[in-house]
Amino acid sequence: MIAGLAAPAGAQQLDDRGLFEVHDTDTAQRTAIAHSGADVWGVRDGTVTFAAQASQAEELRAEGLDLVRLDDLDRMLAERSPGVRAAADEFPPGDEAYHTYTELTEELQQTVSDHGDIAKLSSVGQSHEGRDLHLITISGNVEVDEDEPEVLFTCNQHAREHLTTEMCLRIIQRFTDEYGQDPTVTELVDTREIHVIPTVNPDGAEYDIEGGQYRGWRKNRQGSGTDLNRNWGYQWGCCGGSSGSPSSETYRGPSAFSAPETAAVAEFVGSRVVSGTQQITAHIDFHSYSELVLWPYGYTYDDTAENMTPEQAKRFQEVGARLADSNGYTPQQSSDLYITDGGINDWLWGEHGILSFTFEMYPATGGGLDGFYPPGDRIEPETQRNDEAVEILLTEAGAA
Ligand code: ARG
Ligand code: ZN
Repeated sequence: MIAGLAAPAGAQQLDDRGLFEVHDTDTAQRTAIAHSGADVWGVRDGTVTFAAQASQAEELRAEGLDLVRLDDLDRMLAERSPGVRAAADEFPPGDEAYHTYTELTEELQQTVSDHGDIAKLSSVGQSHEGRDLHLITISGNVEVDEDEPEVLFTCNQHAREHLTTEMCLRIIQRFTDEYGQDPTVTELVDTREIHVIPTVNPDGAEYDIEGGQYRGWRKNRQGSGTDLNRNWGYQWGCCGGSSGSPSSETYRGPSAFSAPETAAVAEFVGSRVVSGTQQITAHIDFHSYSELVLWPYGYTYDDTAENMTPEQAKRFQEVGARLADSNGYTPQQSSDLYITDGGINDWLWGEHGILSFTFEMYPATGGGLDGFYPPGDRIEPETQRNDEAVEILLTEAGAA
């Protein structure tokens, strides 16, 4: 088959979808947009960029929101396909520096073969389509479970956010290659256990690039797709921050942890409770885009709530501000952006007391779909930009 002539296979899912902007929004309006089931791509200075079906857009206009229709999604996706198509199993031209699942797997295997004394490769389980959810653990004496604070980094819950997979890969490469060279890295590896899950949604990520044309895909590949970051089991589906409709981009699934991917990660986190104490003390989940540092809760606008005392809320604000200071992102409680329920931060904090942040990576504003697909040459500067934040979090993991 001549791939260049085939219609994008994901096109049906995107039928009738447009790209919209609303300016000068407040939090309630952003929550209304998210609540309609629309797919929020980015938020900057009160301007929300989102994809919505015609019916969702109509509903929002009826609520009095001033929607500006910027573009047609099918057209945008088609335009991104430059005629020259990549091989079936590769990123499109200009983006080859991104790792496909196969390339990622090889890279991880190479890392543990080069650094077997400090790095271990395992899997927390399988995706819906049976791909291993890789886990790399980095620590001095990695074969021994020493009594050290443990830290978790997760990436790529959302399929099209490929830059985040590269972020996790950078953490893995840096904390192995620089061990014994960079004193800070060496110290942190010797005194921490660093767990990295570079792709929580490998099925979605592969689907997004399959055939050499991006699909703008977000969810996993179970049925018509579950939004993994609405499927975690703390206040799941409670508060209008997710959708109960399978066609929505923010579909929460039929029950908490119905997605094998979230269930597997949750089981791994549960396995780190040793003698009644959760060993993991800090976490970052990487997303793109908007350049934000976010903390729980997402399900409520309140700063304090069940399992969030004023002191704890203050710690999130204080650490969040320092993280953001290091990378130039904007810090805020995640619900200040818009309400979400079933997010990973709420579960890791509410259920396990883990100091859990979301980073929304580069770019700050996306120009629509392009925001998810920065050219390959942005990987290095935009992942390096978080080196210091990663160190801050690892250091913070040692504090009570
Ligand atoms: N953009 C990500 C998502 O939609 C992160 C959301 C962070 N939480 C929030 N309440 N805004 O899953
Ligand atoms: Zn995301």
